[in-house]
This record gives sequence, C-alpha cells and structure tokens, in this order.
Amino acid sequence: MSANLVRRRLPGDFEALPSARAQAAALRVDHAGEYGAQRIYAGQLAVLKHDPCAPEIRHMAAQEEAHLAAFNQLLPRYGVRPSVLMPLWHVAGWALGAGTAALGVKAAMACTVAVESVITEHYNQQLEGDIVDPALHPTIRQFRDEEMEHHATGLAHDAEQAPFYTGLSALIRAGCRAAIRISSRL
Ligand SMILES: [Fe+2]
Ligand SMILES: [Fe+2]
Repeated sequence: MSANLVRRRLPGDFEALPSARAQAAALRVDHAGEYGAQRIYAGQLAVLKHDPCAPEIRHMAAQEEAHLAAFNQLLPRYGVRPSVLMPLWHVAGWALGAGTAALGVKAAMACTVAVESVITEHYNQQLEGDIVDPALHPTIRQFRDEEMEHHATGLAHDAEQAPFYTGLSALIRAGCRAAIRISSRL
C-alpha cells in the first residue's frame, strides 16, 4: 500500500503523509517488539530462575524494560497508537520464553539469538531507511547495540548447540517477522 502511495506521488505533492505512516508503523512495531521481548525474558525466568544464567537473563530483562518504558513515552508523543494485539504479544511472548526454556538453557538462548537477530535487523532498517525522526536515532542506536549484546550473550551460552537449533531458529525468526508485519498494521 505504501509502495502504491510512493509510486503515485507527483512532484509538489504533500510528502508528510506516507512518511508519517511509515514512522507510526515503525514505532508501533518497536513498542510491540520491546513489550514482547520483556515478556519472553519473563517467561524464561519463570523456568530458569535458579539456573546459573539467571542473573544474565535478569540483566537482559531489565534492559528490555527500559526499552519498553522509552516507547511507552514516545508513542503518545508521536501520536502513535499501540498495537491492538498487545494481549496476544503478552501471551505469545511469555509462552515463547517459557516454552523454549522448558527445553533447556541452550534452547532458551537459541530463542534469544533468533529474536534479537530479527530485532537488530528491524532497528537497522529504521536507522538506514530514514523512516523515523532523526532525533530518535541515538535512542534506537543504543537499543540496537543492546539487542546485539543480548544476541552475543545467547551465542556465548551455546545457543547453537540447542537441539534442533536450525529449525527452532528459523521458526522463531519467521514468527518474529510475522509479528512485525502484523504489528505494523494492527
Ligand atoms: Fe529491547
Ligand atoms: Fe533484547
């Protein structure tokens, strides 16, 4: 739809509308994604709270909460409504975190690696594509860097040795990309 808008635009046309829409979609996805991430780590901790890796998961969870708090403030400031599917992200995030953790620490870390790789990719598109207000770039860059640290933490905890790693990873990444597409509209 936005591609059609771009194609039909003529010189001198009002340009704010498509970019405002693109920004709203991106910020809605950011907010829903951070909400989902914080629920994933809550789900992991419900299962792994006594595991030696719990402090590192708590550290990542605390960073996701800070990311979410930032988007909780940014959405109303930019006039963006949250995803109507927040109750779904609430349940799906927790179930993904707890479900993979139930398969073991390596599977939980495989989930982290898959999710964080997609979130990093999403933030990079926003930084490179000139989609959001440049005033937000430092915040998004900082969050992107922290998601990359989470990705590295997952790999350091032998994520790639999880059972069915390739299939599990592909499935979770596809799910995250679908969630991004859905949250950008709904
Ligand atoms: Fe995050
Ligand atoms: Fe993260």
